[in-house]
Amino acid sequence: MHEWGESLMEPGESSGLNVSVADEAAVAAGHRAWWRDAVVYEVFPRSFLDSDGDGEGDLNGVRAKLPYLEDLGVDAIWIAPWFPSPMADAGYDVSDYRDIDPRYGTLEDAIALMAEAHDRGIRVIIDMVANHTSQEHPWFQAALAAPAGSPERERYLFLDGRGPDGSEPPNNWISAFGGSAWERTTNPDGTPGQWFMHLFAPEQPDLNWSDEQVRNDFDEILRFWFDRGVDGIRVDAAPGFYKTPGFPDADYGGDLRFLSGEWVGNPHWDVDAVHDIFKRWRRVADEYEGDRVLVAEAVVAGSERLARYLAPDEIHTAFNFEFLKVPWDAGLRQVINETLEVLAPVGAPATWVLGSHDELRLATRYGREDSSSAVGASADIPSDLELGTRRLRAAALLMLALPGEAFIYQGDELAVPSADDIPDDKLQDPIWERSGRTVRGRDACRVPLPWSGQVPPFGFSPDGATAEPWLPQPAAWADLTVEAQASDPDSTLNVHRRALRLRHEIRAFRTDDFAWRESPEGVLDFGRGPEVRCVVNLSGEPITLDPDWEVLVSSISLDGDVLPHDAAVWLAPRAS
Ligand code: GLC
Repeated sequence: MHEWGESLMEPGESSGLNVSVADEAAVAAGHRAWWRDAVVYEVFPRSFLDSDGDGEGDLNGVRAKLPYLEDLGVDAIWIAPWFPSPMADAGYDVSDYRDIDPRYGTLEDAIALMAEAHDRGIRVIIDMVANHTSQEHPWFQAALAAPAGSPERERYLFLDGRGPDGSEPPNNWISAFGGSAWERTTNPDGTPGQWFMHLFAPEQPDLNWSDEQVRNDFDEILRFWFDRGVDGIRVDAAPGFYKTPGFPDADYGGDLRFLSGEWVGNPHWDVDAVHDIFKRWRRVADEYEGDRVLVAEAVVAGSERLARYLAPDEIHTAFNFEFLKVPWDAGLRQVINETLEVLAPVGAPATWVLGSHDELRLATRYGREDSSSAVGASADIPSDLELGTRRLRAAALLMLALPGEAFIYQGDELAVPSADDIPDDKLQDPIWERSGRTVRGRDACRVPLPWSGQVPPFGFSPDGATAEPWLPQPAAWADLTVEAQASDPDSTLNVHRRALRLRHEIRAFRTDDFAWRESPEGVLDFGRGPEVRCVVNLSGEPITLDPDWEVLVSSISLDGDVLPHDAAVWLAPRAS
């Protein structure tokens, strides 16, 4: 569903890139907000750890694995939606914003999870899905029961249809998941009624963010969670909240695609007035102590449009989809430069993201001939998993050495590949049905994690569990379990652990210092101040490492001073 030259500085010279006007005073006073340099681990709760044996992950499962996350060395977790939900879109269809889905536990479990995470120095970001609710939300049910024009209907986008009998959708807008963005309702007396709008599945009706009831309710929902200790809010589908008044037809130009990342002027995406909503959310976050953070999911047409969400009085950070999309090649340099250049004027830190619950698994993507991102891509495209894993490990060292915030999707620290053999009848992503069973969707990256043992459920569910994991795990994952990798010093897990430990130990990683060094064609070589340097070899040839620097961590075991292709190292100056 998703669609960033060269700034040469001397090592040690500060780019000054990441300090906003609003934060200059804080930085001068020695305070640096935690989220500017945090490593955030995405927990997809349904697939993390099942503590009660029902085949689905839960919050007590996350609590049980906090020592694992502390040992891994992450600063924060982002938990994908945990609210009560009919799961028409994996929890991105919320039926109550002030509670926890029973399959995940209780509000008390969530509060205990946050307290225990905080005790281990781990912050908690939750996922706020506010572009739309579930059809089962009481607001939507009340809207269906109320007449056209009622305040209940005002919360959503209900319109009369076109044509003499209103049987045509109100306009030509399409859903991100395929098909029309409009669904017709049936009146209580059985006659056809008004239409409601859904940017995603019909089970996810869009809220009307022009309605003051909606704005006020979400101020209170944000406060509800900040009061209970959440450190941050991920803003799901941020560019969708505001629709062009009058609901004009979209000019798709004959090519019916959602185009969220390509099109300025789309009447249902990235409409300028959307920013008022997030300035309001920022005011709520600023009511709280402790550097509460807003993180935008905003797939928009390029970096200039993205920077608008990151104004000093709006959202603090946003996922960097340009970095995520780009293939594993020397083009990464340009994306890094554009990211830093675009964010400098607004003072937001860069973010570096390579995977999520929406993307093809990284080990699989990087093993393909075309390694750019493609959501829901066909299982038929061959992938060399050994190559993909090798690149994933080098990419981890690259991402974790860049200035700013990094996101790791659960399982990528294990190089878990895409589970491309899920039987059709087990697929749950709405994209599968809405595409007429042509696009398999995102289930392949959502399979429960392998923790231990030789056979499924690989420790995901407790011994004697009555239910199978909600999505089947491939038998070949026996070698990828946390247990198997923990004891292997050269495992992908241990590369992540070493890098994250160093990231905490080396002060330069908590600064904005960044400077490219002169390097051969196809080699990314940069310093984070004079203390540490990252070299990534994308040249196609082995290179010889600088004898004045020693290796702190490498993505693969090295033979002497040679860094092979598709490998990376962090270096420190040798003591003379
Ligand atoms: C975001 C989520 C995705 C979800 C969609 C609708 O893109 O990451 O999983 O389907 O929003 O809420």
